[in-house]
Amino acid sequence: LRGEFFANPRADDGLARALAWGAAGEAGAVVRALPGYAPTPLLSLPALAAELGVERLWVKDESKRFGLKAFKALGALYALHAFLNRDPAPGRGPAVFVAASAGNHGRGLAWAARRLGHRAVVYLSEGTAAARVEAIRGEGAEIVLVPGDYDDAVRQAAADAARRGWAVISDTAYEGYEEIPRWISQGYAVLFDEALEQLGLGGEGGGRGAEAIAPTLVMLQAGVGGLACGGAMLLRARLRDPRPALVCVEPTSAACLLASARHPRGEATSVACSATSMAGLCCGTPSTIAWPLLRAACDAFMAVDDDYAREAMRALARGRGGDPAVVAGASGAAGLAGLIALCREPSLAGARALLPPRGARVLLINTEGDTDPEQYRAAVGGRDDEGGAP
Ligand SMILES: Cc1ncc(COP(=O)(O)O)c(C=O)c1O
Repeated sequence: LRGEFFANPRADDGLARALAWGAAGEAGAVVRALPGYAPTPLLSLPALAAELGVERLWVKDESKRFGLKAFKALGALYALHAFLNRDPAPGRGPAVFVAASAGNHGRGLAWAARRLGHRAVVYLSEGTAAARVEAIRGEGAEIVLVPGDYDDAVRQAAADAARRGWAVISDTAYEGYEEIPRWISQGYAVLFDEALEQLGLGGEGGGRGAEAIAPTLVMLQAGVGGLACGGAMLLRARLRDPRPALVCVEPTSAACLLASARHPRGEATSVACSATSMAGLCCGTPSTIAWPLLRAACDAFMAVDDDYAREAMRALARGRGGDPAVVAGASGAAGLAGLIALCREPSLAGARALLPPRGARVLLINTEGDTDPEQYRAAVGGRDDEGGAP
């Protein structure tokens, strides 16, 4: 089984809209006011769309975000801004912000702290790819390498922060820690706001342009669900006619949202997560703020194997048939991986009947570029015009 699909029996748009805690409003203003800000490109890939048999295919290319190769700084930037509004830095010295990270969140946090004149300390598993460690250090953060895995890094970061009075900026929520992850998801929502604007569907509060073509299917890759939550929140609030189907995509080896959807009462469910090339999605426990919203907002939950991610990376890299070439890391390509599986996986015929890709207008988010260049080269190869055709 290389791909799984579960139609969500609890999808409820009214509830999703009621649960959504605000659109990208303030976060959008904060992000757009940053000197040097520019929206990331929204690319149209007609040749790949034709190969897959979908009507349109757009990729919002977050590998271009702030020169950081991933979308994550959107969340950290807004969270630090909101945090400092609530708790201004004591005295004249810089505040210290701490996070554990698989790589991208730490880099985003380090960058945002520096842009706002503060310090960041980032805790990483000692197994983290060297390129990711160096990229975070390059943003001026102090790095702490922790023996063990990501969860060990989380525990160590929390313990050290409590002892030293540092502020933890985590991208996942748990009981008693929800305000900051909510700000982070609101920051992520800004990328969806940009995408709607680029599609001619009006920005925040804006109208619908004459040329507007709305997506009918949006693939949202997820680790703890913070990104998918930001997207679902904005898209359910703003797109009603047509109403896009929202599909959450996870790696098979870390599909905690899929497991939660399958839970008899739809309760958040943890899974043991084993290694996947989709490092940014390797999370075993849903965020407590993301899950209730995704449970109401998503039409389906999918899981795909690393093989599909690799194939999606290659399809994006080749830029065949006049399509622009897109540099997507494994987590970045996960939305396309889910789409390819939905179009083709033999065991998903039932899913295709429920959610026919044929004729769909699909929006994907390339959430990261080659954040691990070695892995990227190994997946895509020196030449990208052989094989891997979907
Ligand atoms: C590249 C990339 N894509 C997607 C995600 C998923 O975000 P979330 O954990 O909020 O679901 C992450 C998380 O770190 C990531 O790094």
